[in-house]
Amino acid sequence: MKQRLKILFAASEAVPFAKTGGLADVAGALPRALAALGHEVALVLPRYYAIDRSRLEHLPGPLGVPMGPLGTLWAGIWRGVLPGSDLPVYFVDYEAFFGRSGLYTDADGFSYGDNDRRFIFFSKAVLELALRLDFRPDILHANDWHTALLPLLLRTRYGDREEFGPTASVLTIHNLQHQGHFQKGAVDWMEVGWEHFNPRELEAMDGVNLLKGGIAHADAVTTVSRRYAGEIRTPEFGFGLDGHIRAHEHKLFGILNGVDYDEWNPATDPYIARNYDIGEMEGKAVCKADLQKRFGLVPREEIPLVGFVGRFAEQKGIGLIAGAIERLMHLDIQIVMLGTGERWAEGFFREIARRHPDRFACHVGYSDELAHRIEAGSDLFLMPSLFEPCGLNQIYSLRYGTLPVVRATGGLDDTIVNYDPATKEGNGFKFHDATPEALYHTLKWAAETFRYEKEAYRTMQKRAMEARFGWERSAEGYEDIYLHAYYARRAGRHR
Ligand code: ADP
Ligand code: GLC
Repeated sequence: MKQRLKILFAASEAVPFAKTGGLADVAGALPRALAALGHEVALVLPRYYAIDRSRLEHLPGPLGVPMGPLGTLWAGIWRGVLPGSDLPVYFVDYEAFFGRSGLYTDADGFSYGDNDRRFIFFSKAVLELALRLDFRPDILHANDWHTALLPLLLRTRYGDREEFGPTASVLTIHNLQHQGHFQKGAVDWMEVGWEHFNPRELEAMDGVNLLKGGIAHADAVTTVSRRYAGEIRTPEFGFGLDGHIRAHEHKLFGILNGVDYDEWNPATDPYIARNYDIGEMEGKAVCKADLQKRFGLVPREEIPLVGFVGRFAEQKGIGLIAGAIERLMHLDIQIVMLGTGERWAEGFFREIARRHPDRFACHVGYSDELAHRIEAGSDLFLMPSLFEPCGLNQIYSLRYGTLPVVRATGGLDDTIVNYDPATKEGNGFKFHDATPEALYHTLKWAAETFRYEKEAYRTMQKRAMEARFGWERSAEGYEDIYLHAYYARRAGRHR
């Protein structure tokens, strides 16, 4: 540790409390890794309906959160700890906003109509809570659009609070597609001053864009792989914000996510049929047979079994899989999919499973247990994403000796090295074109390698299982950025 920092980490989801995707994995692991480096860290989350209060400690007195014309709203505050650490986690409890089954959407997948109020409220509650606890952060770390208002709040509504005088803000973009775009009336609830509603700060297409405001005002902006940090400066990946990002690129950094190997480790994984590791791989065959049985596939050991776990969203390349599936069904392979999301995809893949019950199976739903079983039981793991800021499943797959088949984009490109038949180097299989043909040919090649080049496959598998993407290295990357932002702010050189 170079210097002990006080870090307030705000996110809309974190493992093990609430999760819809990789943001939760990161928000549950990075604070712990920072604490392990010696920093003082506190995590703040909304108290969603599913988070059980009975194991939490209620802090006395409600917390007043000013919301402009809505007046002051009063929240309850609960405290817990992040498992495996003594790091405090604070939950902001406000039933009318967070006492719902979904985090951001209702059961039909539609965004809640008051998401602007919900997360403006949450962001303000984070700062009010810090004042209440007299937690004077050196670093305020916001994540994605939900908490992207924090850097601007820090400089406006809370700008004259001496408790936040030295506080530098860091905003991490986990996914640029989701920007928090709302009607401009939301500025009134923010109480940041209408002068910040302009095209260089909050304004976009006559509405407010929370992520845009955060990028403008954070002392440092990070994203979750180096490759993605480059990609989002281009119109192809910028989702309309590439120009804005280029204007702030001097403070943009890419830091690859890590993996929590306490959770994703075939040697200790409690969910899988039989544990295994390098040098004792018999368990992997047991996991494969178990997966085939569970999904009603013929339990054949020599057939390449391909797994997919992820949100059924265009981002994840489900359109490419759908486009290639009929041809893939003519190969002697099996495919197992786990996911939920777009309705057309859920229906489409269920129908494929009905037509090809011997080689295709799909579980529509969310299941941690099945995700682990698929990682362990598959031979190949498919991630044909159109864009992928980091991607975690391909890194989990490496540890499980399940070679990834990926599209060369973002974090997938940074973590997977294409198999080279001449040198036998590599840890997976990659394609570039976002077409069903490219996916088909690459998956076919990977399946043939598994089947007919057993030595090469095993060498790659061993290499994949030996590689480590621990959080410690990532945490050190954040530490450098924190220190840089912190000193720049103290010296008044932040903008
Ligand atoms: P993203 O955050 O874009 O969804 P990541 O690869 O970073 O993608 O992280 C996804 C995380 O969510 C992984 O931990 C993955 O295992 C998990 N996940 C996604 N869909 C499901 C599902 N249907 N069931 C269980 N876990 C899932
Ligand atoms: C996002 C991205 C994913 C990344 C995750 C965690 O949801 O889509 O690529 O791994 O955030 O940073």
